[in-house]
Amino acid sequence: MSSEKGSRSGKGHGRRLHGLGEDPELARIVARYAPERLETLPEEGSFCVHIAPRGLMGQLVEELGDSVLAIRGRAVLARGESRPCWAQTSWLHPAWIPVASISDAARKLSAIQRRWSAHLDRESGLNRRATLIEEALPRVKRTPLVFGEEFTPHPMGAYLLWNKELVLASAETTSPFADGEVHFVENREDPPGRAYLKLWESFTIFGVRPAPGALCLELGAAPGSWTWVLGNLGTRVFSIDKAPLAPHIESMPNVNHCLGSGFALTPDLTGRVDWLFSDMICYPERLLSLVRQYIDARAMRHALCTIKFQSDEDHNLIAAFASIEGAKIRHLSCNKHELTWFYTEPEA
Ligand SMILES: C[S@@+](CC[C@H](N)C(=O)[O-])C[C@H]1O[C@@H](n2cnc3c(N)ncnc32)[C@H](O)[C@@H]1O
Repeated sequence: MSSEKGSRSGKGHGRRLHGLGEDPELARIVARYAPERLETLPEEGSFCVHIAPRGLMGQLVEELGDSVLAIRGRAVLARGESRPCWAQTSWLHPAWIPVASISDAARKLSAIQRRWSAHLDRESGLNRRATLIEEALPRVKRTPLVFGEEFTPHPMGAYLLWNKELVLASAETTSPFADGEVHFVENREDPPGRAYLKLWESFTIFGVRPAPGALCLELGAAPGSWTWVLGNLGTRVFSIDKAPLAPHIESMPNVNHCLGSGFALTPDLTGRVDWLFSDMICYPERLLSLVRQYIDARAMRHALCTIKFQSDEDHNLIAAFASIEGAKIRHLSCNKHELTWFYTEPEA
């Protein structure tokens, strides 16, 4: 896969960063941005807070580059209003709130709004206090979602304890879920793998899913847990992979699978589809030129693709995916070293 250097020139930190604690260079950067090293607290309105996905702090820090001000747990304080792809959620209007006690903190937060979640940081020694504040706040339902049941994305505020007497809180965040992590009641019996969670999460957070009867083209489908989701939604699935689907998926009545390469298909062969899906393991640049073909030919209404990275991420390439009109990029809770690209064709 991609061998290009991942860091943005003049922006990144000049080398690959792996999970927190695994890489001495990353440990050095995290230490450099330790909250104690800030001379003054950043002014409200001048920064946002971005929560790194577990094990992917390096990707977020690299994407944010020189705008990083401080790191506390998985929370990265960064100048400006950027919306990094590698953030699990972003706190849009963080404010400093002096607090005299646990009950004072709960009173001040609940005066702002009802729904809050604490960002916990093992290293801070303040987790117990942060949790006690959470317990003193109005109760927020935390049960895992059941896919298919109605879900209303209520706004979720987020806070962390900067120290015993200071809360950093934002009433507005980009995700209705605590730390941006979505949990489902899982099905461990029917799908042939856990990748189905990517579709469940995507359909939940983007708020769009294929309607029954929709024509879905699925590239890189084996062993078939996405196919299982699409088949159960009542869509017509045409899937392709170099490998076969699990037999119980291939025998679904609305699934047609063929063996071959997803790159051998082109819009003139497939015709227009309602949804294009790709979970193929491939170079991101190959995927980009594939989706561009379908966009240029107006051959898909929606697309949902996993952009997979082997080692380095090419930020220019990610920016190229993000700049496509009608596209969004997210790091899903169940994405590992990959991003999810969602596209809806703009009205003509
Ligand atoms: C991560 S798996 C897909 C998992 C699948 N979404 C599921 O839910 O079960 C990636 C798949 O991409 C397939 N693949 C890799 N290159 C491909 C290509 N050029 N054309 C079609 N499939 C490809 C692999 O054979 C593999 O089955």
